[in-house]
Amino acid sequence: MRGEGQGPEGHEAVGSVAVRTFAAHQSPVPQTARRAHQSMDGQHVNAMAGDGSGAPRNHFADYDELPEGHFYDPDAEYEPDPEYAATLAPDAARQRRERVGPTGRPLPYFPIPGPLTDHGPAKIIAMCNQKGGVGKTTSTINLGAALAEYGRRVLLVDFDPQGALSVGLGVNPMELDLTVYNLLMERGMSADEVLLKTAVPNMDLLPSNIDLSAAEVQLVSEVARESTLQRALKPLMDDYDYIVIDCQPSLGLLTVNALTAAHKVIVPLECEFFALRGVALLTETIEKVQERLNPELELDGILATMYDSRTVHSREVLARVVEAFDDHVYHTVIGRTVRFPETTVAGEPITTYASNSVGAAAYRQLAREVLARCHAE
Ligand SMILES: Nc1ncnc2c1ncn2[C@@H]1O[C@H](COP(=O)(O)OP(=O)(O)OP(=O)(O)O)[C@@H](O)[C@H]1O
Ligand SMILES: [Mg+2]
Repeated sequence: MRGEGQGPEGHEAVGSVAVRTFAAHQSPVPQTARRAHQSMDGQHVNAMAGDGSGAPRNHFADYDELPEGHFYDPDAEYEPDPEYAATLAPDAARQRRERVGPTGRPLPYFPIPGPLTDHGPAKIIAMCNQKGGVGKTTSTINLGAALAEYGRRVLLVDFDPQGALSVGLGVNPMELDLTVYNLLMERGMSADEVLLKTAVPNMDLLPSNIDLSAAEVQLVSEVARESTLQRALKPLMDDYDYIVIDCQPSLGLLTVNALTAAHKVIVPLECEFFALRGVALLTETIEKVQERLNPELELDGILATMYDSRTVHSREVLARVVEAFDDHVYHTVIGRTVRFPETTVAGEPITTYASNSVGAAAYRQLAREVLARCHAE
């Protein structure tokens, strides 16, 4: 059922949950994505297509063997949104000339991933930072949508009682009968009853609303309370390639549940003065979960968000973040643009709302970087 045969008419609420369908947000496959795949087919087809022996394909076989001078160019495939292009202007020429990314390190090429023939088991990513308003929800929606655009099956988990992820995908949390809360707290509840399909092909949602805030209290008396989400997601692992959990801005029991379920953590950091405050507490929590509950957990990366290269302040903060976290910082940096708040109102990802914008290009590049890191393991 999930992810299969998805026509426009297939994007309806799943199970017994009565919410409005996503058909209104249905949009055609973005031109940009199609163009990108086509050029990729021509250019890197040998590395992507396998050797015909039936052995698993290594989509990144050509990672170190690119023709000289073939670097990722953030402006190459996309027409920048004019309002946002101005924010890139001061560095763009130097960055292209010296092939240095905004983090000050040489920018590697992240290949466009080829299609998959089968799916799962899922890698679970927790989008986590106890600081509020740093771009967790925005990054969950748009990384998810970009991964789905590249043919990965994606499940997004709204693990914040504010329900911002659900709202950002056009769902009214107040109208939901069943949410991730029921999945956590009611034995025998199946994920299929709670799952919703989104307007983005290949991307589903486990929605949430204010009910989830009760779980934080009720879970305290549960046996193995920290691994409740992990148990709930287990039956879904083979249906998806990536499960992305949008955490709430706290380090409480819900976030510990997300970290216990996850293989990787992405920490979005807003490029402003207090960005690094509290990050030590977050890394300490990640280490504790690693030691006591989930030895597989690792910090995949720090994602700089709301970066504005026109301001010295933004550049300085980013330099400090790179100084502190070095290779953990993603090469991909998300710029500040008013397009993101607009997408929340529209109830869809930027990859469909403004497919050719720099914001959409940035999340596509992040998806490619995340895939490259996963394949490098
Ligand atoms: N790159 C960006 N440029 C401009 N605005 C952005 C960007 N990313 C996110 N925003 C906006 O900043 C606000 C906070 O973002 P978001 O909700 O993603 O953060 P959050 O970390 O999930 O917040 P919370 O901790 O409350 O859950 C939103 O209004 C969002 O639209
Ligand atoms: Mg949020």
